[in-house]
Amino acid sequence: MMHSAFVLGAMLLSSLSFAKSVPVIADLPFLTKVGAKLEAKSTSLNVGFARITERQQIKLFELSHAAGRCGGFEAISESELSITHASKVLEQLEARVKEDERVAASLRPLTRAIRPEIAAALPALKADNIAQTVNWLSSYPSRYNKLPNPNVHVVDFEAKLKAMLAQYPGAYTIGQISHQRTRQNSLRLRLEGKSRPQEIVVLGGHLDSLSGFYGSGSRAPGADDNASGSASLLEALRVLITQGIPERSVEFFWYAGEESGLLGSAEIAQQYKAAQKDVVAVLQLDMTSFPGSGELVVGNVSDFTSPWLRQYLVSINSTYALGARLIDDRCGYACSDHASWYRQGYPTLMPFESDTDNMNDRIHTEGDVIAPLSFTHSLVFAKIALVIAMDLGNSVLRAPSSAAN
Ligand code: BES
Ligand code: ZN
Repeated sequence: MMHSAFVLGAMLLSSLSFAKSVPVIADLPFLTKVGAKLEAKSTSLNVGFARITERQQIKLFELSHAAGRCGGFEAISESELSITHASKVLEQLEARVKEDERVAASLRPLTRAIRPEIAAALPALKADNIAQTVNWLSSYPSRYNKLPNPNVHVVDFEAKLKAMLAQYPGAYTIGQISHQRTRQNSLRLRLEGKSRPQEIVVLGGHLDSLSGFYGSGSRAPGADDNASGSASLLEALRVLITQGIPERSVEFFWYAGEESGLLGSAEIAQQYKAAQKDVVAVLQLDMTSFPGSGELVVGNVSDFTSPWLRQYLVSINSTYALGARLIDDRCGYACSDHASWYRQGYPTLMPFESDTDNMNDRIHTEGDVIAPLSFTHSLVFAKIALVIAMDLGNSVLRAPSSAAN
């Protein structure tokens, strides 16, 4: 019953929002199953590129959901396709993964000396603040990017940032970023680096939410997905700005339209690449509060992420006694905004609330509420974000393959 209602909703909505076929990168077996005409594929990544019809999109959703995943595809912009031939998109991705594997093979275990100021700052992070922010964000009826007014919560969040930064002694900018492919805006806060401002540490998560296929559900609290990651970032920021001015620039993003195909982050990462911006690391926090594999068990997502940052996470977890029990895991596809950055060649990291088999199964429903969440669990993610901002933000450390290493 529930199922066919969803499909019907999906068909009605998709006829509004997808008049023609859309170019996507998706799971290879699923694309084959829905009868998509593949324009390119990568067997090593297990993804393919195709233009799929509405019908095929719905089938793809059904297959993904049956397999316990979400939508399972990343929408590719026409502008990107017009400058890059379809097969190039996947070729570049494969080359990137090969290069990362090569680098990983030569990595020695990272041992980091403790920075006392970081150890001293960590206890200031409070689970209660994360709980409060998640409570606030999940009380909006929905944060979906296709709402008539999709920026109500964005405007409020921006005001919150401005209030929080009022006492900050350094230079900073806060602003909404508008997009080509969605009417929803992303939010950015840039803390200007003191001595190396052109080097950027990015910390981000998506602020939008969705319920039902194509957002067919009316209420989308998105408490875990992704008020939790958004709130963990805000708590890290609250403490970071009491710690002086970073040497590198630190940029926080709350992305728009992730649930509709990584829309905000895809445009932002493309723009950063086009402007040749020097992003040294990208942290993605998407779902940080459901302890599905046990309290403090954290998945270290291993696809569309960089080996040196995954190893760095292992290292800071022990150096700063963050208390996470890290397990390696895979999303299996471009499951969140880190993939947008990774595709543009930037180093990424994505710690996740559990292993993906045991993740919160209420996401993308009206039932993604606070009840099953643990904010001591999400506190670990705020700690990770704060350590990354304070350590990488005050360091010359970067990917081992680069000249500066
Ligand atoms: N939070 C989910 C992604 C997620 C799911 C991460 C499972 C890790 C494990 C995210 O908001 C989402 O739903 N992403 C979409 C993909 C996107 C390209 C539309 C999805 O999974 O379908
Ligand atoms: Zn999400």
